[in-house]
Amino acid sequence: MAILSNKNKTYDTTGLKVPVSLAVIMDGNGRWAKKRLLPRSAGHRAGAENLKELCRNCGRYGVKYLTVYAFSTENWSRPEDEVHQLMELFVEFFEKYDPELEQEGIRVRFTGDISALPEKVRKTIAEGEERSKNRQKMQLIVAMNYGGRREIENAARKLASKVKAGEIEPEDITEQMLSENMYLPDVPDPELIIRPSGEMRLSNFLLWESAYAEFWVSETLWPDFGYDDLTQAFKDYAGRDRRFGGLSSKEAKS
Ligand code: FPP
Repeated sequence: MAILSNKNKTYDTTGLKVPVSLAVIMDGNGRWAKKRLLPRSAGHRAGAENLKELCRNCGRYGVKYLTVYAFSTENWSRPEDEVHQLMELFVEFFEKYDPELEQEGIRVRFTGDISALPEKVRKTIAEGEERSKNRQKMQLIVAMNYGGRREIENAARKLASKVKAGEIEPEDITEQMLSENMYLPDVPDPELIIRPSGEMRLSNFLLWESAYAEFWVSETLWPDFGYDDLTQAFKDYAGRDRRFGGLSSKEAKS
């Protein structure tokens, strides 16, 4: 693919190495709202609108897997009404925007400890996954009640059960087996993780999967993170020298 135009945006992928698997920490909704003297819920709503934009832009750029951090295992400690508003927003988003996601060929999947979410949200998740399962262009993976440590704990427990059942020996356990027991083993590890709003930490996101991910941060708050920021992130990513603990191809030859 070379150049695609949409609403004055030019998706020029000529020579641009776009990640197959991208992850985004949607941070800064609260600060965005505060700057405008609005309630935090308005920031989350603007963040949801922007997620729709990101999906469209990633689809056009040819990203195949987009994983977004929507609600962490730690977010339950927020005030009850904020948690409630977020849950309502998730349900509304997937009902309201599914036709647009369908138009873009976006399959929706979820990762995290889904069983602990309210019934209404679990229903939306089950329906959204089922409805979109045959869409081919891109997968949107929404991390809900997600914690990287919990995901690793869960994988360890699954392997421990196999040991207990006599199916494997402890010394048979490999990195590959742990990977295969993460929530969505078929989703490739992210090559790039973007975090808007100036924070430089992973906050328990994709701890196992991010071992060799490139990290890109920007000052832009999530609801304002747009096409230009994404394009810049991809340009910077394309220029990174990913060595995976080895040498760069230039050094290896010398
Ligand atoms: C972090 O910003 C954001 C969240 C905890 C919620 C993310 C949720 C959305 C973007 C809503 C849409 C999601 C879906 C899946 C429809 P923050 O509130 O911690 O921001 P702050 O650090 O500025 O306070």
